[in-house]
Amino acid sequence: MEFLCFIKLAFTINVLSLLSFSLLAYANSPCDFPAIFNFGDSNSDTGGLSAAFGQASPPNGESYFRHPAGRYSDGRLVIDFIVGVTAESLGLPYLSAYLDALGSNFTHGANFATAGSTIRPQNTTLHQSGFSPFSLNVQYYQFNDFHHRSQIIRNQGGVFKRLLPNAEDFFRALYTFDIGQNDLTAGYFLNMTTDQVRAYVPDALDQFKTIVKDIYDNGGRSFWIHNTGPVGCLPYVMDRVLITAGQIDKVGCAAPFNDVAQYFNLRLKETVVQLRKDLPSAALTYVDVYSVKYDLISQAKKHGFVHPLQACCGHGGKYNYNMHHGCGSKIKVNGKEIMVGKSCKNPSVMINWDGVHYTEAANKWVFDQIVNGAYSDPPIPLKNACQRQ
Ligand SMILES: *[C@@H]1O[C@H](CO)[C@@H](O)[C@H](O)[C@H]1NC(C)=O
Ligand SMILES: *[C@@H]1O[C@H](CO)[C@@H](O)[C@H](O)[C@H]1NC(C)=O
Ligand SMILES: *[C@@H]1O[C@H](CO)[C@@H](O)[C@H](O)[C@H]1NC(C)=O
Repeated sequence: MEFLCFIKLAFTINVLSLLSFSLLAYANSPCDFPAIFNFGDSNSDTGGLSAAFGQASPPNGESYFRHPAGRYSDGRLVIDFIVGVTAESLGLPYLSAYLDALGSNFTHGANFATAGSTIRPQNTTLHQSGFSPFSLNVQYYQFNDFHHRSQIIRNQGGVFKRLLPNAEDFFRALYTFDIGQNDLTAGYFLNMTTDQVRAYVPDALDQFKTIVKDIYDNGGRSFWIHNTGPVGCLPYVMDRVLITAGQIDKVGCAAPFNDVAQYFNLRLKETVVQLRKDLPSAALTYVDVYSVKYDLISQAKKHGFVHPLQACCGHGGKYNYNMHHGCGSKIKVNGKEIMVGKSCKNPSVMINWDGVHYTEAANKWVFDQIVNGAYSDPPIPLKNACQRQ
């Protein structure tokens, strides 16, 4: 009798704990993303532009990799912290650039981002305007090709099985995006007014929406989407575009350009809301990187940084930036040839690396703010980004 009772009790406890365990698991268990596929511009390029058009030059990469590593920074980018490094990261190896023919291992994903990429294809060459031919639609063609051909090649077995993701990984992967900044600057550099730039933002976001849907049709379900940063705080914009004193905000940034970035972000957020309706089984996380970067720049000292509006690896002028003498180029000072960036002694306390991109220290700081979902809609951590809210 006693024995029976014990069995019954144990059974009840077991069922109860099983139930609560599965409920907990549903709400909190990490997604265990087996792979990550990234689309974007230089903010997340881990070697794409370098593979196609020549390596990024020293001193890029000096702080972490100790040599140029296809990244426009002294070290790692936000995407590098997303895939691996901290306990909150996804625990995967650094992403190989899809375009990198040598030494790539795509088992855990591929990176389609290249520096200078836009959402809207530009009608100029890289050499004319500095914008990459690998616009978002081209990155999608490459992904589509990768998806299909990787499976044919993987089926040959042997080493190919240890270089390419399996079919199921495309469903379970995290798809990340950081693109749009260059769509805005493309107009500014053609001397368009901010109103003219604003006018084509809806077209850019329509094209963005199409690509997310195409990836969904290819099996993608989890999307992690960064909005665009405060481009009006970057030396390459402030130095190149005419700004009147009245347009400078209290931090020292060019307000009209940040206003357009925020308009882009508002429309991006609406686009994500629409995509949630259109794609019933997708989990879409919108990440407000703008606020994080603006907070970092406007309260640099509080966060342990100095000279928030100056490039570390640059030369001359108010922002230590000159577009004709970029980071790593050679210039003559007092008859002596020097490399631009030699004077950048302590990138770990600087925010801006080369007038356009962020330092590794700033990228790590941004990652630390966004990883737990504090700036996300819905507010879920990176590791849970497969869960629909
Ligand atoms: C490029 O040209 C095409 C065809 O004229 C046009 O539809 C498109 O908007 C242009 N792209 C940009 C970024 O201006
Ligand atoms: C590629 O990377 C994966 C994961 O790190 C590893 O298991 C695999 O052996 C690597 N492939 C080759 C050919 O080294
Ligand atoms: C933009 O304006 C500047 C200054 O007036 C001029 O030097 C430059 O050539 C213009 N750029 C384009 C693409 O029209």
